[in-house]
Amino acid sequence: MIFVTDAKMALSSGVVGRRFLLLLAQENVEFRLPEIKSLFSLCKVQLRCEENFDQKSPFWIVHIPSENVAKAVMRRTVCAKSIFELWGQGRTHEELHNSLKNYPADKMIPFLQQGSTYQIKVYAFNKTLSHNERIQKIDDLGFLPFQGTVKLKDPEHVFWLLEDYGTDPNNAPEKPFCIYFGRWIADGQRELINLYSVKKRHFIGNTSMDACLSFLMANHAKAGANDLVFDPFVGTGSLLVACAHFGAYVCGTDIDYNIIHGRGKASRKNQKWRGPDENIRANLRQYGLEEFYVDVLVSDASKNIWRKANIFDAIITDPPYGIREATRRTGSQKGIIKPAEEYVESHVPVSMNYHLSDIFIDLLNLAAENLVMNGRLVYWLPVYKLDYSEDVIPQHPCLKLISNCEQSLTTHTSRQLITMEKVKEFEDKDRYAHLNDAKYNPYVGHNSFRDKYFSGVMKKVSKENKNNQN
Ligand SMILES: C[S@@+](CC[C@H](N)C(=O)[O-])C[C@H]1O[C@@H](n2cnc3c(N)ncnc32)[C@H](O)[C@@H]1O
Repeated sequence: MIFVTDAKMALSSGVVGRRFLLLLAQENVEFRLPEIKSLFSLCKVQLRCEENFDQKSPFWIVHIPSENVAKAVMRRTVCAKSIFELWGQGRTHEELHNSLKNYPADKMIPFLQQGSTYQIKVYAFNKTLSHNERIQKIDDLGFLPFQGTVKLKDPEHVFWLLEDYGTDPNNAPEKPFCIYFGRWIADGQRELINLYSVKKRHFIGNTSMDACLSFLMANHAKAGANDLVFDPFVGTGSLLVACAHFGAYVCGTDIDYNIIHGRGKASRKNQKWRGPDENIRANLRQYGLEEFYVDVLVSDASKNIWRKANIFDAIITDPPYGIREATRRTGSQKGIIKPAEEYVESHVPVSMNYHLSDIFIDLLNLAAENLVMNGRLVYWLPVYKLDYSEDVIPQHPCLKLISNCEQSLTTHTSRQLITMEKVKEFEDKDRYAHLNDAKYNPYVGHNSFRDKYFSGVMKKVSKENKNNQN
């Protein structure tokens, strides 16, 4: 029995494919399924998990048409550690051994042949096994027709025995819930998290996005080779770095002149001012990605500056929500809008408060107008947990919600990573959809997010709720 995660894809589905075992990292748990789904969809393959699959488990059995697809997904994922061709599984070692005996010999033999080298590794999730226990488990697999020679360094084939002791660290069972055996196919890209760590980044700011989340966002956005990706609130360009790593050409805007020009106060401890060449281009150069740098401009994201529609393959951004940076936009004095011809070249617009709900209306309009068809918008939406439901996510007639994943910030606040896809061409009337239909502006109640974040109102509310319950 299989569970297809996308109904449309199920309709176009063909063969079920081979069974593979994904071993996932147990962090950013909610972000994993949308990431893996996005990567499968980049390969034009539907993600098919077994029906009883537990999203929170580090082990997922997936059906994939070929090893090449498995490798392509692993070349991008930061959520999955490794993938294995699954040869057998069971709730006990006896069940596992029976299952292995039923695995077709013709699929096994090519990897067990005389003259080949191999290694067997034992991995236990949520349990520490002694050296002797590991050796015993390997010895118990002696019934498999291995003809090759054991080699611990650079063997041709690596086989893994994986035991699942559940996800409760305080209640690990004596015996595993499930045991798997498979042939290692590929590792994911977890090492990118350290390689691109912002701690070692040339140019950083107070709100530089962490490397793992940046790669996750690039994967949710399906940013890939030769795409053009835009970040309207670019800051120090962390999201551009992640997209450029996957071969996308990148550009961005920010209202802050100092950020764009790499000037002003430094964010690093023990450094007063930013040094020469502390800028986004230098960040890309640091990783050998300068060829993917298009440019960044000082510009206000509330104004659409792009003359041509449908130019970006993805828009990926972390808008300001007023906690560590100001939410400002340009305007004119006393709200009087001057005709364009009255502006002189030296005109400096005044800066005005930028309501959170307006930020997201503008962002969705920007995406709807400037994304190519099926292009993705990926952004963070701050919310107070008590008031949050999927209904508060801003909508747009041209954009379909693909996924929303929560990252907790405090006891009462979190941010949701929202992924949307362009499904309809933009028409001028769509720009005002939020004025004509409240369903397109459900987020307005969250405008006071910043005040509530700092005032502790949320703490009071939850205390009252608790008292009322008692
Ligand atoms: C959360 S930070 C982005 C951080 C960025 N992802 C990084 O990794 O450095 C938000 C950025 O939006 C910028 N910003 C605020 N209001 C803006 C506006 N109206 N238009 C464009 N940028 C704006 C801020 O200057 C800030 O750099």
